[in-house]
Amino acid sequence: MSNKIGRNEPCWCGSGKKYKSCHRDFDDKISFIEAEGHIVPGHKIIKTPQQIEKIKESCKINVAVLDYIEQNIHEGMTTAEINKIVYEMTTDMGGIPAPLNYEGYPYSVCTSLNNQVCHGFPSDKVVLKSGDIVNVDCSSILNGYFSDSSRMFCIGEVSPEKKKLVDVTRECVYLGLEQVKPWGFLGDMAEAVHTHVLNNGYSVVREIGGHGVGLEFHEDPWVGYTFKRGEEMLMVPGMIFTIEPMVNMGKPDIFTDKKNNWEVYTKDGLPSAQWEIMVLVTEDGHEVLSW
Ligand code: MF3
Ligand code: CO
Repeated sequence: MSNKIGRNEPCWCGSGKKYKSCHRDFDDKISFIEAEGHIVPGHKIIKTPQQIEKIKESCKINVAVLDYIEQNIHEGMTTAEINKIVYEMTTDMGGIPAPLNYEGYPYSVCTSLNNQVCHGFPSDKVVLKSGDIVNVDCSSILNGYFSDSSRMFCIGEVSPEKKKLVDVTRECVYLGLEQVKPWGFLGDMAEAVHTHVLNNGYSVVREIGGHGVGLEFHEDPWVGYTFKRGEEMLMVPGMIFTIEPMVNMGKPDIFTDKKNNWEVYTKDGLPSAQWEIMVLVTEDGHEVLSW
């Protein structure tokens, strides 16, 4: 990062204050950490208070949609019905489902069952049945600002093994979250997630991770879970990213369905679970924006 802004010029953050009395010390601190060999965030991914307010409005849709799904999901329902609910609720609230037409994705939501890892296509042929575990991954756009989160649901009588996978994956997210604070590193979060995964005899998907989000659907940084404390990007106030580990009951290996180039499955056919939250790094810790 280069501090080419003059002391008395307006700060890059849009506060209207002079650089020297706004983010200059902050930038100097980041440059120092960068010089020590760390990956640091650029200005582009540090959100202003005004942007954060807009992003939070988008998150309200995402949370409302997932709350509604949580109350209404049931055995016998098709995942196409979930897609319809997501589309209608999101647009009724003035938003747009972010997945729809995103890089050609043809639906408003991802619904991933059992051995499906992510990006499952909603379908009128997929009927939820007792024993299924399903991830519903919602993302919304409101006035150009993005939100993204997902939850797992257990349908009817789920085996203790699958129930544990779902519960442990949620615990992983919250253990990771505890590590989210300014001047720490994404690797601190990753290590906390991965340790809990391994302690339970599971594995984490390596190829697909979380991401910065807010002004775009997917921004820097990429957020993986196989890193160690002190590795990966420095966390600073104003950064927003997702924590969304995909945890496999068996091996970490995955494959993408060649028929549509979207739907991802475990290679060994064993179940996979995922929870996704969207988190803001604050001055003294973090704030969960969408869950
Ligand atoms: N919601 C997913 C995520 O967590 C993204 C899915 S891309 C889509 O990042 F096109 F399938 F929606
Ligand atoms: Co995401």
